[in-house]
Amino acid sequence: MESKLKNLKDSVLKDLAEIKDSQILADLKNKYLGRKGELNELLKSLKDLSVEEKPKIGKLANEVKEELVVLFSKAEKIISGDKKESEDLDFDPTLPGIKKEIGHLNPSTIVQYEIEDAFLAMGFSIYDGPQLESDYYNFTALNIPDDHPARDTQDTFWLEGDNLLRTHTSNLQVRMLEKYGAPFRGIFPGRVFRYEATDASHDHTFYQLEGLMVDEDINIGNLIATMKTLLSAVFRREVDVRLRPGFFPFVEPGFEMDIKCLVCSGDGCSVCKQSGWLELMPCGMVHPKVLEAGGVDSKKYSGFAFGLGLTRMTMMKYRINDIRLLESGDLRFLKQF
Ligand code: DAH
Repeated sequence: MESKLKNLKDSVLKDLAEIKDSQILADLKNKYLGRKGELNELLKSLKDLSVEEKPKIGKLANEVKEELVVLFSKAEKIISGDKKESEDLDFDPTLPGIKKEIGHLNPSTIVQYEIEDAFLAMGFSIYDGPQLESDYYNFTALNIPDDHPARDTQDTFWLEGDNLLRTHTSNLQVRMLEKYGAPFRGIFPGRVFRYEATDASHDHTFYQLEGLMVDEDINIGNLIATMKTLLSAVFRREVDVRLRPGFFPFVEPGFEMDIKCLVCSGDGCSVCKQSGWLELMPCGMVHPKVLEAGGVDSKKYSGFAFGLGLTRMTMMKYRINDIRLLESGDLRFLKQF
């Protein structure tokens, strides 16, 4: 029965395709849909079907009937010369097309690209390096020997041997100096890992962007100017910065760089906890021991380095209040960017 219904529809379609005159069309309609037409004949045998089959086939028969009615009424309109209606049956070029879903960049990737562009314009190059790192490049070469308390501040995922998941992108400082020597200008964006419990502002995986510039006569003024250029590229306006002393074994002097709060412009609000300033990134002048570890003459060259929290900066820029969203892969979140 099911196939009979389908055959019926096929033969209607075939017949309709050849019709040129309204009389033949009327006869055809009668032949298929008339009181004694083929469809009604078929429906008579519904009563012979089993209880399970009856509703299923009944439904199909109704659908076929509805389709045939529509087909005939369209054919009637075409034959009677209702041009507008017949055009409607064709293709309507004014209908909007089906929208294709396209992927979205993670907001930290967007910020990363903006920062990269700003640094490329200042003559820096972009480098990548290992996430699985040795104790040496992550700590010792950065003037953090075995017994140094600074190790405790970076909760580390230790691996077999002397290996670890890098806790910061500073691991590339000495690698790059060893490989390229001085003068050097580079940034190293990438993933870093910390062994810590997660909450709205901590995650075990996040992104940093390290910068290193080494040349003759590099001073703190160069560091500040470079940072201000970068910040106006990201926040698209002039930003005020200030330096406070900060301690990191691989820089001397070391600083914490703050920016004037972007929300209240320094007046004090809940975002900056009424201080007017937001802590942005640690930085400093590269420690001579680090230059020497990279094979660079520290009497001739000096440099600055900074460790920008890419994830943190992204959260500031887009006012994202939970760090875990960034690595969640949640499309509802990602589609907003
Ligand atoms: N690597 C440090 C961290 O992850 C941040 C840092 C501090 C990087 C000072 C630097 C720097 O380049 O100069 O906590």
